[in-house]
Amino acid sequence: MAKLFPILTTFLLFFFFSSSSCWAHSEEQMSSFLRSEKRVEKAAYETQSHFQFFWHDIVSGPSPTSVRVAQAPSEKNSTTSFGTIVMIDDPLTVGPNLSSPLVGHAQGLYSFAGKDSVGLLMAMTFVFAQGDYANSTIVIMGRNDVFSQVREMAVVGGSGLFRLARGYAQARTHTFDQTTGYTVVQYDVFVTHS
Ligand SMILES: *[C@@H]1O[C@H](CO)[C@@H](O)[C@H](O)[C@H]1NC(C)=O
Ligand SMILES: *[C@@H]1O[C@H](CO)[C@@H](O)[C@H](O)[C@H]1NC(C)=O
Ligand SMILES: *[C@@H]1O[C@H](CO)[C@@H](O)[C@H](O)[C@H]1NC(C)=O
Repeated sequence: MAKLFPILTTFLLFFFFSSSSCWAHSEEQMSSFLRSEKRVEKAAYETQSHFQFFWHDIVSGPSPTSVRVAQAPSEKNSTTSFGTIVMIDDPLTVGPNLSSPLVGHAQGLYSFAGKDSVGLLMAMTFVFAQGDYANSTIVIMGRNDVFSQVREMAVVGGSGLFRLARGYAQARTHTFDQTTGYTVVQYDVFVTHS
């Protein structure tokens, strides 16, 4: 035991210094870009809002709001347009008619991510144009299997009034014009924010 004690002490000292220097090192790395850190209480109340508006995907005519930007060579042989990417700046309106008041725009893209069935990957930001919500955003991401009656996508975040937003959006096709490709989709967005 008397012989073991110095060995044990050396081992413990070594362990202490090696782990503390490692800790100091990682703290130094952290503090180079960490500007502040604090523990916060959760708000007792959060706001849950339900928004409803209509999304207009205008793919043809003199001023399309939806443009195809890329496609895989094999897309021509695909019945599901697999491998196509479409960029959008689609108007959002209060009612289903394009001439109804403007709510904002859906900016982003959708891509055809389904090989055997049509399944879009939606990645878009709803940018609001009106009143208190002007310039605040809600970010949507998720799968949109357009032939289903109701499609659900995630609200993955937001900005402005919608900072730290979370929730979900439900999409229902309102009208689809087979000759022009013009599609109107009803969006119901359920969002929890501070
Ligand atoms: C499309 O399919 C045809 C017939 O199967 C084939 O010859 C052609 O190479 C395919 N094209 C592409 C781009 O995959
Ligand atoms: C949309 O509104 C315009 C102008 O108010 C009207 O002429 C048109 O018929 C409406 N379209 C539909 C599909 O209701
Ligand atoms: C929103 O942003 C635009 C520029 O993108 C700016 O002109 C406008 O004043 C902003 N509105 C508000 C309410 O901040």
